[in-house]
Amino acid sequence: MAQKSVRIAPSILSADFSALGKEIEAVDAAGADWIHVDVMDGHFVPNLTIGPMVVQGLRKHTKKLMDVHLMITPVDPMVPAFAEAGADTISFHPEAGPHVHRTIQLIKHHGKRAGCVLNPATPLSAIEYVLADLDLVLVMSVNPGFGGQAFIESQLAKIAALRKEIDRLGKPIDLEVDGGVNPQTAKRCIAAGADALVAGTAVFKDGPANYAANIKALRG
Ligand code: DX5
Ligand code: ZN
Repeated sequence: MAQKSVRIAPSILSADFSALGKEIEAVDAAGADWIHVDVMDGHFVPNLTIGPMVVQGLRKHTKKLMDVHLMITPVDPMVPAFAEAGADTISFHPEAGPHVHRTIQLIKHHGKRAGCVLNPATPLSAIEYVLADLDLVLVMSVNPGFGGQAFIESQLAKIAALRKEIDRLGKPIDLEVDGGVNPQTAKRCIAAGADALVAGTAVFKDGPANYAANIKALRG
């Protein structure tokens, strides 16, 4: 069964990068459950964002769970730095591994929650034999790299299939969705079994005065 209350994780990719500390404090105060941090390397995805030093700087601005989404390859050399910077959950793409089981163990060795991220074309079977070791699965409902893209409908079936698998295992594995989440698509993700939603554009639109209403609108 999906959790009753969905967790909302604003993606700071859509925040004002010249004032990231203030932006995080604003979404924290507006009711964000987690803070989603998109780390891109200009290689695994065609965009460059932030590294561990920025995560370390942001850590001082919130006590909420810092949900770090690594879109980098290789993954393992950067895990210790993000763990030390204050990430709580560290998620990576199995394609970027390349040794998925080893990377999960490495993240856990650093005392952090481990997540795997499934690209739109990546099947569930990519994580079949490690699902029970994970704390979180993140379903990408856009191709990773940029905010503001349209939700890919076909991912709803993947969310539903994952919900079944997670319930069958009976483990508290979070099922998160990332990309094109707005009040309409959020409802459908929740109905399919998601219990955490990442949203950039939908949270940060219209400035800080609207963040609380924007977050509330995603809770379904
Ligand atoms: C895309 C990122 C997302 C992105 C979502 O690669 O993983 O977290 O910020 O942005 P929206 O909510 O605007 O689709
Ligand atoms: Zn993300």
